[in-house]
Amino acid sequence: MIIAIDGPAASGKGTLAKRIADHFGFHCLDTGLLYRAVARDVVRAGFRGDDTWAAVAYARGLDPATLDDQALRGAAAGDAASVVAKIPEVRRALLAYQRAFSRREPGAVLDGRDIGTVVCPDADAKIFVTATPEIRAERRFLELKSRGDASPYDKVLAMIRERDARDSGRADAPMKPADDAILLDTTELDIETAFDAAVGLILRKIGHRGALQTGKTG
Ligand code: CDP
Repeated sequence: MIIAIDGPAASGKGTLAKRIADHFGFHCLDTGLLYRAVARDVVRAGFRGDDTWAAVAYARGLDPATLDDQALRGAAAGDAASVVAKIPEVRRALLAYQRAFSRREPGAVLDGRDIGTVVCPDADAKIFVTATPEIRAERRFLELKSRGDASPYDKVLAMIRERDARDSGRADAPMKPADDAILLDTTELDIETAFDAAVGLILRKIGHRGALQTGKTG
């Protein structure tokens, strides 16, 4: 059972993916961490963030055991990730790990930008989470503030817009909803309401197959 959750920065997809995985007893992979970790490894080794050769080499050698790293959580790491994420060979190098993860039993939830379109085109349910750039910037601003990062709102909004443009504008695996994805606009939803809506959408999509009976559906 594979659930694909895609969407732009700070749309709430990461929180939703974790909650959904927990609810059904599935594994969860935040695929953004893979790109963040590649960018981290490139810079730590002394290369520029946009050094294609280094990015490809570090993507091929990425150790998934290093994804649980607080240094990957900040705004700068997300921005650096979207630079290496434009490189087709980097994306290709990270594909096998993501696909193997998606096959974990009893099921997996993967969140990112291209899960429904490229990584898992045959996912059982696909949700594309959206929200206006302003509300996403507000959420990201509060999240950064709670971690002691005092970036002003206007700067956060500008970064969100820039990242949206980079992620949707790239030639390889641009961020876009799969044709069979269900759109979930969280602009006016708090996390509880968004979570309930997402579980409802997933159950409507796959519940009739009884495929979730082994998971925690209650
Ligand atoms: O948490 P947030 O949405 O800000 O970012 P993220 O999901 O950690 O992703 C960071 C960056 O990695 C994105 O802006 C994308 O450029 C890239 N990414 C991607 O290209 N494909 C994915 N499946 C996941 C992330």
